[in-house]
Amino acid sequence: MKQDPVCMKNDMLRTLVTREELETTVARLGREITEDYRGKNPLLIAVLKGAFVFMADLIRQIDTPCTLDFMAVSSYGSGTESSGRVKIVKDLDTNIEGKDVIIVEDILDSGVTLSYLIPMLQTRRPASIRLCTLFDKPTRRKVPVYADYKGIEVPNEFIVGYGLDYGEHYRNYPEIAVLKPSVYSEE
Ligand code: IMP
Ligand code: MG
Repeated sequence: MKQDPVCMKNDMLRTLVTREELETTVARLGREITEDYRGKNPLLIAVLKGAFVFMADLIRQIDTPCTLDFMAVSSYGSGTESSGRVKIVKDLDTNIEGKDVIIVEDILDSGVTLSYLIPMLQTRRPASIRLCTLFDKPTRRKVPVYADYKGIEVPNEFIVGYGLDYGEHYRNYPEIAVLKPSVYSEE
């Protein structure tokens, strides 16, 4: 992968979602969750690694007690296409039986990851499971998955930043951008 060794911005073709738009969207999602879960003490489960930045900002916009946990799954190799196989790389630390669970995802793409994860978590008998995704690429869906809380619909383009990576890079870029084609072509 060709990457500018000094400045990430040089690898970006254009910005798709600004910091301000991210902030407004995360605040809205936090308000929606706060209204629906007041007094319920929900358990938020972030799907690593992509959702960790979103999770960190989201919980600070939720104004009712909640707890959190993390799970790591892999369905992608190092590129931009899902392998179609989902593997649990890190399981939860918590028992979710009887809990009101909210899965926190960075982006809903083919739906393969969540169509595996949600039924798997259902077998652990939580009181409820809802899905909160920051981004949605509806045109890419291969398996139907419904998001209860949805941030921004994005076009069918591979995006990076705000936790989302290309080959583990660019997660620290503070807004959402599309990479220059040269970044992919010179692998
Ligand atoms: P799905 O199983 O195809 O829905 O893939 C979901 C996962 O793929 C997300 O949690 C991301 O980690 C990754 N992913 C999908 N689209 C993108 C993208 O545009 N940029 C970075 N990661 C993506
Ligand atoms: Mg990823």
